[in-house]
Amino acid sequence: MARQSIEIAPGAAFYPGYLDRAAQEAMLARVRGVIAKAPLYHPRMPRSGKPFSVRMTNCGPLGWVSDIDGYRYQEIHPETGAPWPSIPEALMAAWRELSGFPSPPEACLVNHYADGTRLGLHQDRDESEFNAPVVSLSLGDTAIFRIGGTKRRDATRSVKLASGDVFVFGGPSRLAFHGIDRVLAGTSTLLAEGGRFNLTMRRVTPGR
Ligand code: SIN
Ligand code: FE2
Repeated sequence: MARQSIEIAPGAAFYPGYLDRAAQEAMLARVRGVIAKAPLYHPRMPRSGKPFSVRMTNCGPLGWVSDIDGYRYQEIHPETGAPWPSIPEALMAAWRELSGFPSPPEACLVNHYADGTRLGLHQDRDESEFNAPVVSLSLGDTAIFRIGGTKRRDATRSVKLASGDVFVFGGPSRLAFHGIDRVLAGTSTLLAEGGRFNLTMRRVTPGR
C-alpha cells in the first residue's frame, strides 16, 4: 500500500496515522507483552548517574542502555540479566515497508513517557550502521517532538507525534539532533493509564 509521508527535512519523513486504531491496539498488546518479559526501568545518565525521567526497555537481539559507564548496546536487560524479547512482527513489517534498508533492525528501544517527562535533545549515534534510518512509532498521548540538524546549535522545528504516527530519520537526517519537549496529557484514549510509548528501531551492526 502506498503511504503518504511529509518530508520534514531531507531524509526525515513523517507518516501521520500510519497505524489505524485497531492496529495501534494490536501493537500496544505486543508492547505490553515485551514489557512483561523485559520490565521498564529508569536508565541513568553517564558520569552523573542521574536517572532519566523516561523509563525504557528494549526488544530485539540488542538493546540500548545507559548507565554511569556510558551508552551502549547489549544483549541482556541490565536489571533482570535476561536476553531481550524479540521484536514483534508488526514492527518488523513497518521496518520493511519504510526503512528502505535491506537488513533487519537489531534493536527496538521502548520509551515510556509518563505525564511530565521529557527527553533532552540528543543524536542516535551509538550504532555502527548509519546507512540505515531510525524508524520511530508513537502510541498514546501526543508528544511535541523537536528535530534539528546535525549540529546541536542548528535551528530546530517541532512536530506533534500522535498515536499511530511514524517518523523515519535517515540519509542527511540520520544524525539529526532530536528530543521530546513534552507529552500532552489526555490527548489519546489508547493507554488506559495515560502517557505515551515510543518504539524506535535501529540497525546496530553493519548491514548489507
Ligand atoms: C528517542 O529519541 O529515543 C525517542 C523519540 C520519541 O520518543 O519520539
Ligand atoms: Fe533518539
